[in-house]
Amino acid sequence: MRLALLFVLCCSLGQGIAQYTLFVLLEEFSNGAGFLADATRCNSRFWFTPNSKCNLQLQLCVEPLSGTTSLDLNVCNQPQLNGSYVDLGNVTSSQNSIVFNGDGYTYGGWSNPYIIPVASGTFQGFRVKVKAYSFDFPRNTLGLIDQYVYTFSDGSQVAGSSAYSHDRPPAPQSTFLSLAWNAGSDIPASGTTPGSPTGPPPPEDCYKIYETSATDGVYTITLSDGTPLQVFCDITGGGWTVIQSRADSTDFNKAFSEYENYFGTTSTSYWLGLKNMNTMTKSKQYSLKIDLCCGNSSKSETYTGFSIAGPATNYTLTVNLPGTGAAGDGLNYTAYGSMDNGMPFSTGDTWNRPDFPIGFCKSYGGYGGWWFGSCSNNLNGNVYTDSSDYANLNQCQLNTNSSGPGLTWDTVATSTKARMKILPTINLLSFVDPELEQKQLAAFCSS
Ligand SMILES: *[C@@H]1O[C@H](CO)[C@@H](O)[C@H](O)[C@H]1NC(C)=O
Ligand SMILES: *[C@@H]1O[C@H](CO)[C@@H](O)[C@H](O)[C@H]1NC(C)=O
Ligand SMILES: *[C@@H]1O[C@H](CO)[C@@H](O)[C@H](O)[C@H]1NC(C)=O
Ligand SMILES: *[C@@H]1O[C@H](CO)[C@@H](O)[C@H](O)[C@H]1NC(C)=O
Ligand SMILES: *[C@@H]1O[C@H](CO)[C@@H](O)[C@H](O)[C@H]1NC(C)=O
Ligand SMILES: *[C@@H]1O[C@H](CO)[C@@H](O)[C@H](O)[C@H]1NC(C)=O
Repeated sequence: MRLALLFVLCCSLGQGIAQYTLFVLLEEFSNGAGFLADATRCNSRFWFTPNSKCNLQLQLCVEPLSGTTSLDLNVCNQPQLNGSYVDLGNVTSSQNSIVFNGDGYTYGGWSNPYIIPVASGTFQGFRVKVKAYSFDFPRNTLGLIDQYVYTFSDGSQVAGSSAYSHDRPPAPQSTFLSLAWNAGSDIPASGTTPGSPTGPPPPEDCYKIYETSATDGVYTITLSDGTPLQVFCDITGGGWTVIQSRADSTDFNKAFSEYENYFGTTSTSYWLGLKNMNTMTKSKQYSLKIDLCCGNSSKSETYTGFSIAGPATNYTLTVNLPGTGAAGDGLNYTAYGSMDNGMPFSTGDTWNRPDFPIGFCKSYGGYGGWWFGSCSNNLNGNVYTDSSDYANLNQCQLNTNSSGPGLTWDTVATSTKARMKILPTINLLSFVDPELEQKQLAAFCSS
């Protein structure tokens, strides 16, 4: 009895006098497409100014949680509790995001990693209060972008990295913060964006390129597994990465093993590869937009939650339903019991619809490759470039004797061009000027 009591005394005392040091490494702060909190664009009076950028300035307060609510309130306003705001000053000029470098970099009062010695108490998590501003031209004022509190209260996870995305009214926009921490005696290992003495990490998609470039065109992105890929970036439309493009008569009637990899010519018709689509969509939440042309006119459809699963599932496609747009909710088109959402990829030589023989969808499934569910969509069919292939060119209706399926989608009979493009979903929430997006699509359709 006496021994047991002593044991308890020993250990609660031990906890009471514990000390630790909290190390916090800032990795990234991003303000979507560049808006102030009142929904006006940074750096411009004019809402239609393209690719508007912010002069980002941050103030942050990091406060260790004690586990006692009364002590944790308002620590940020109590310098004696080591909770004062750190002013980072002008951390970038004319950027919508900051990728912080690793160890040893200083921004105003902040040095990475930021170190907070805690005299007593065990680690119970911490809280980060963020105030983000843009020093704005031509207004010449400090405009508030966002302020929020990010609480990480899992005291059992003493080290790690985390990303926080904060939606903010009045327009659907978001800001994003990524950081790593360690409550112990070590500098935290960086998570998503490790510091590098040679500069920021290479862009992983066209949204990253959109933050620094204003020109549509072919760029190199580097996937999270290190694979470099050439892609067409729709910058004007808000930083979309084109993953499939059909703009000339390049043959897409290929084997399953060819669809697993990149093929085609980036400036006209290409396929990113199922493996690469899987790598991209497992490291970040993306949205998918399908663009269809009939001559110079166009229709689109957008889905959030786009992902392509790994080879073990034959690269099953998943989106959040319903889609939005004028082209029709093709991935939820259900005929013969199945829709394309949730389907594995099939080609003529690898038919993955065990419930249907290939002949049933033959005019579609024998051509190109697709996540055949309903048999009604196939953006990898034939591109018909000769007007004699069309019974009605204005309506994009093919002759019935055409030698294979065209680019088919939902209720849109045939398209003369088509493409699939993706954008991180948190950036989709940011405002993109629909007129500019339409202009970029018109350029694709009429090229
Ligand atoms: C911040 O940047 C703006 C715009 O470049 C500049 O006018 C201002 O002087 C800078 N402020 C500081 C404290 O450097
Ligand atoms: C605040 O930080 C100082 C060192 O900068 C440290 O000595 C002190 O104990 C800390 N105070 C608290 C309440 O954690
Ligand atoms: C993937 O495709 C192969 C070849 O058609 C098939 O044997 C296998 O069962 C498929 N796997 C799944 C999970 O659909
Ligand atoms: C999918 O389509 C069906 C049939 O048109 C409809 O009833 C259903 O609501 C749709 N599902 C979603 C999630 O939109
Ligand atoms: C297909 O039909 C059209 C119109 O009926 C005709 O002009 C064309 O020659 C036919 N093409 C072939 C390959 O038979
Ligand atoms: C489509 O756009 C191109 C380029 O702007 C133009 O040359 C062509 O005449 C247009 N075609 C139609 C049918 O409007």
